[in-house]
Amino acid sequence: MLTPERLRATLPVNGLGEPLYFFSTIGSTNDYARELADQGAPQGTLVVTDEQTAGRGRGANRWETPASSALAFSVILRPKRLMPERASSMTALGALGVAEAIEGLGSRAEIKWPNDVLMSGKKVAGVLAEIAWEGNQPAYVVIGVGVNVRPKSVPMREEISFPATCIELRLGRVIDRHRLLIDILLKLADWYHNMESSTFMDTWEAHLAYRGHMVAVEDPSGDIRGRLKGLSSNGRLCLEGDDKVMFEVGPESSKLRPIDKLAR
Ligand code: BTN
Repeated sequence: MLTPERLRATLPVNGLGEPLYFFSTIGSTNDYARELADQGAPQGTLVVTDEQTAGRGRGANRWETPASSALAFSVILRPKRLMPERASSMTALGALGVAEAIEGLGSRAEIKWPNDVLMSGKKVAGVLAEIAWEGNQPAYVVIGVGVNVRPKSVPMREEISFPATCIELRLGRVIDRHRLLIDILLKLADWYHNMESSTFMDTWEAHLAYRGHMVAVEDPSGDIRGRLKGLSSNGRLCLEGDDKVMFEVGPESSKLRPIDKLAR
C-alpha cells in the first residue's frame, strides 16, 4: 500500500523524500512541485499522489493517473551546476532510476530516448524533467515520473501514439508501489551523485532501446531517419545516415520510433 505514513517511516532515502507532500488526488505533481520550488523548497522535496487528474507529459501530452494503479511523483533537485547543453541528462536521470528499479524486479527495461521507459518494447513509464534557469545555471529541476503499475493505469489505445503496458502485466505478479517508489528514489539519488561520471553516460547508453536499428524521429524540419548508434557526450542521439555519415539529434526532436526489426 502506498500511504503517507508508510512513506514517512521510510523517507528520506539518500537525501530524497523530505519534506514529503502526499495527495490522494491532485492535478499535476510537477505543477505543485514547481510552485514549491519557486517558494524555495529544498532539494529532496517529494510530491506524491495516488490519483493525478491533469498530469502533463512531454510536448502537449497528457498523463492521467487513475487512483491506486500507478506511481505519479515529482522530486525537486537543486544541482550546483548543469550545462544547458546537458539538460537532457536530468531526464535520463529519472528514466535510468525507473529502468534500474524495474530491473531489480527481475526484468529488462530500456529507455526510449529521451524520456520513456519500455518493457518488452512497450511503454511503462514516462519522465518529465522541468528546469528553471537563472541565466545559464539551474535554479531548480523538477523530475516528474509516471509509472504504469497495475492494468488500470494503461491508457486506452486511442489515447496514445505508442503501445503501452504496465509492470504487473509484464511480470505476472502484484507489485508493491511503495517498495517500487523507494527503489526508484534510491537509484535516482545514486545516479544524481554520479552524473559527472563516465559510468552514468555508459549506463544510460547501455539502456537505450533500438541500438543498431533503423529509427525515425519527428523533428521541426520533418521526419529524420537513421541507424541508432548511441549517445553523444551531451546525451544527444547519434544516428548514422544511409550515406554512413553520423549525425546527432537533440531533445527538440520527438517521437522516436523503430522502423525496422534488424539490428546491425
Ligand atoms: C511523458 O511520457 O511524456 C512524460 C510523462 C510524465 C508524467 C509524470 S506523472 C508525475 C509528474 N507530474 C506530471 O504532471 N507529469 C509527471
